[in-house]
Amino acid sequence: MNRRHFLGTLALSALAEPAAPRVNGTRLREHLEALSVFGRPPGGSFADGVSRVAYSDADVAGRRYVMGLMETAGLQPRIDAAGNISARRSGSDSTLPPVLFGSHIDSVPSGGNFDGDLGSLAAIEVVQTLNEAGLATGRPLEVVVWCNEEGFAYNNGIYGSRAAAGHLDPGELELVWNGVKKADAIRKVGGDPDRIEEARRKPGSFHCYLELHIEQGGTLDQAGIPIGVVEGIVAIDRYDVEIRGFANHAGTTPMPQRRDALLAASYLTVAVNEIVRREPGRQVGTVGQLSVSPNAPNVVPGLVRLTVELRDLSSAKIAKLAEQIRARAGQIASETQTEIEMRPAAHHSEALATPAVQESIEAAAARLGLQTRRLPSGAGHDAQMMATLGPMGMIFIPSVDGISHAPKEFSRWEDCARGADVLLETVLAWAG
Ligand code: HGY
Ligand code: MN
Ligand code: MN
Repeated sequence: MNRRHFLGTLALSALAEPAAPRVNGTRLREHLEALSVFGRPPGGSFADGVSRVAYSDADVAGRRYVMGLMETAGLQPRIDAAGNISARRSGSDSTLPPVLFGSHIDSVPSGGNFDGDLGSLAAIEVVQTLNEAGLATGRPLEVVVWCNEEGFAYNNGIYGSRAAAGHLDPGELELVWNGVKKADAIRKVGGDPDRIEEARRKPGSFHCYLELHIEQGGTLDQAGIPIGVVEGIVAIDRYDVEIRGFANHAGTTPMPQRRDALLAASYLTVAVNEIVRREPGRQVGTVGQLSVSPNAPNVVPGLVRLTVELRDLSSAKIAKLAEQIRARAGQIASETQTEIEMRPAAHHSEALATPAVQESIEAAAARLGLQTRRLPSGAGHDAQMMATLGPMGMIFIPSVDGISHAPKEFSRWEDCARGADVLLETVLAWAG
């Protein structure tokens, strides 16, 4: 290339679109580490994970911290009637529906410091980076931190986004958990259950919804691919099972005369695993929570409560599996002379990502020179509720060794920054 040609190329490239700014990865890491303190085990460190269950004091403190970061980014956060935190950055035409992006900061008990936190803090980082670059967007931007995504509290997840989408169950606010009515828990985090309808978002009320999240599985990490483009989010069905036997003396009750609720629960747990595994496909089934009563070494268990959770990209398939489990439960009940009741506790439908949003994420990653892979999400997300209201897309980054919902949940800091840069680029692509 001669000198004249080179200078011409240089001039042309200077006229080309200015590259979008890049997030401050160090600041994002600092914010993730700072948020991890709220709910950290006493005397623990970042590596010991977090218990920031929704509506807990740790959750309230974490929400306060995140709202402070929003204010530092020039936003005015508000809490809607459902308890969701949101804040808008004006666009040159603020009459246009915003680009909506965010995630959640509540965790499971003994969870990790990236699930939800990354998407929530990266969203704020995107705004901060645009401010520092002096970049205005055509559309407004809206950052959101959803309330009680995990659903450990009140045994039903993606609560805040379900409230926004109008998918609360009848009587849901009257539920009692840990001795607290759900309506009172919502008040504790600044919501107003008496005006819950005001938290509703109308179809078309946002231009598109984007969520950055850790994969929580091992696909990207094993393949060495930095960015995942979510194809769809699984349907989740959760059941409460109650097994009633007969509590009796562990020393004087002959084995054939026992009505042992825990024995029945054990058979049922094995049955869930066998029934789910014998079906071709990627579905999963879990008995994750179990309580025994009276839970004494010298008493034959009289009562067991447990949860059965089924997931797959097909609601129909997990409904079919549930019926097979229910039938097997009936057999176990007669074999063990117990009564087994299996009640639906929560249903979240599968959601497919919007092709145009997927393509925009891939284009954003390409501009950043990052390889991508499309994949399903085995985890549930608020994005599946937003998909009922408008275009939706999710950006994944690798989870080291595929570990999540555990203190060892970890994503490499450079992957967090790269994911946030893809979020920034994609937001700009939609915000005009
Ligand atoms: O349970 C889930 O899949 C999500 O992490 N709440
Ligand atoms: Mn999550
Ligand atoms: Mn989670």
